[in-house]
Amino acid sequence: MLIGAPATDREKNKMQREQWGSRFGFIMAAAGSAVGLGNVWKFPYLVGENGGSAFLIIYIAFMATIGIGLMMAEIGIGRYSQMNPVGAFRKIAGRGWSWAGMLGVITAIIIMSYYSVVGGWTIAYFIDTLSGAVVGGTPDELGSKFGALVGDTTRPIIYDVIFLGLTLAVVIAGVSSGIEKAVKVLMPLLFIMLIVLVARSVTLEGASAGIDFLLSPKWDEVGMGTISAALGQSFFSLSLGMGALVTYGSYLNKNDNIRSSASWVCFLDTAVAVLAGFLVMPAVFAFGFNPGAGPGLTFITLPAVFSGMWGGQLFQAFFFFMLFVAAITSSISLVAIPVSYLSEQFHMSRVKATLLVGAIVFVVSIPCSLSLGIWSDYTLFGYGVLDLLSNTVDWYLLPIGGIAVAVCAGWFAYDKIAAELTNHGELPFPLLGAWKFIMRIVAPIAITWVLVGPFLT
Ligand code: TRP
Repeated sequence: MLIGAPATDREKNKMQREQWGSRFGFIMAAAGSAVGLGNVWKFPYLVGENGGSAFLIIYIAFMATIGIGLMMAEIGIGRYSQMNPVGAFRKIAGRGWSWAGMLGVITAIIIMSYYSVVGGWTIAYFIDTLSGAVVGGTPDELGSKFGALVGDTTRPIIYDVIFLGLTLAVVIAGVSSGIEKAVKVLMPLLFIMLIVLVARSVTLEGASAGIDFLLSPKWDEVGMGTISAALGQSFFSLSLGMGALVTYGSYLNKNDNIRSSASWVCFLDTAVAVLAGFLVMPAVFAFGFNPGAGPGLTFITLPAVFSGMWGGQLFQAFFFFMLFVAAITSSISLVAIPVSYLSEQFHMSRVKATLLVGAIVFVVSIPCSLSLGIWSDYTLFGYGVLDLLSNTVDWYLLPIGGIAVAVCAGWFAYDKIAAELTNHGELPFPLLGAWKFIMRIVAPIAITWVLVGPFLT
């Protein structure tokens, strides 16, 4: 650029690329992305359905090897390139790799479309708990209330819009002044609320049966399906395989220690999932409910549990607020992915890009929501729109994205990413060899198994 000449948009973009204000801010943002509905809503019912702690042990084993390894790889790809996922894969491994980033951008929009619907339910349940509308009653009564909410035509869409609007507002405000500021308050708040709720749950009379359930593995209930479910869940829970951490990593300071930040995020994510188990299971057992209740566990069984408990309404309000916080910090990072792509590759302003993403997500979220109500007859392969999108993501898009990251990091861009992980040799990384082996061999094979697993059982 000539001295004095006005900067082009592209140069402005480069000069103005934002960074996280602090290491703590980055860890909270990445943990905020990871800790979400997957931890609090899905994880406990998966544990309930898959042999209790046997599932937990397999899950932790995957987290500690493939999960953490892929997380380092994604953050490394992002920080190396300082770009959105599409640009990042291209820059680090060549033109032929942009599809891997594009897959992430598309996956993010798809996930966001149903995530915002479920996020809307958390707001509805928080409000309905305060008003007393979903307080008290048997699981059957609460089940029909839940069915009435999600099957309604307008109410869930109104809450969907509120949830989406709040998310967009944070993303528009920017990386350090919006996202980082929000997560630095919300995430510690979430941890505190979680601990209060767990303390309440494990001190209930009869809680020990639930604790036993979480601590005594039933290996005979473990099959191929359990193992691929555990790996799939570790992926979804860590927000891997779709460029979320590439995006967040791209705003990371070059001096930061990726290994230790990634370890923190994996630890926090696992801790929240396990604590959510210790929140849900002891309470469910104490009141004699079924731990294998599936997806209804959070919205139906838990309110029934709360209704039998002293101070139940207050704890229930706390719970749904916490679930909302977990969901919104994840949805912020989901929206940030396509926004970084649009604003960088098409030189759109951040506001315009965010509003465009919001509009697309909103349009797709409508059939998602209606698929549980008036459009429930429109199915493909037996699934309504919401289930179809969610299964496509879990079964195909995230595993393919994960294999792409592993192969890219292990075979095509190993030296560049290894340099990021060691800050060009400044930081020791004794397990670098193990990391390389996991990226090259273990992760691609294990994840392929997740892809084909459902066809084998
Ligand atoms: N990790 C989130 C959860 O546990 C869900 C999720 C998957 C996600 N991929 C993501 C969130 C990407 C943000 C970005 O609920």
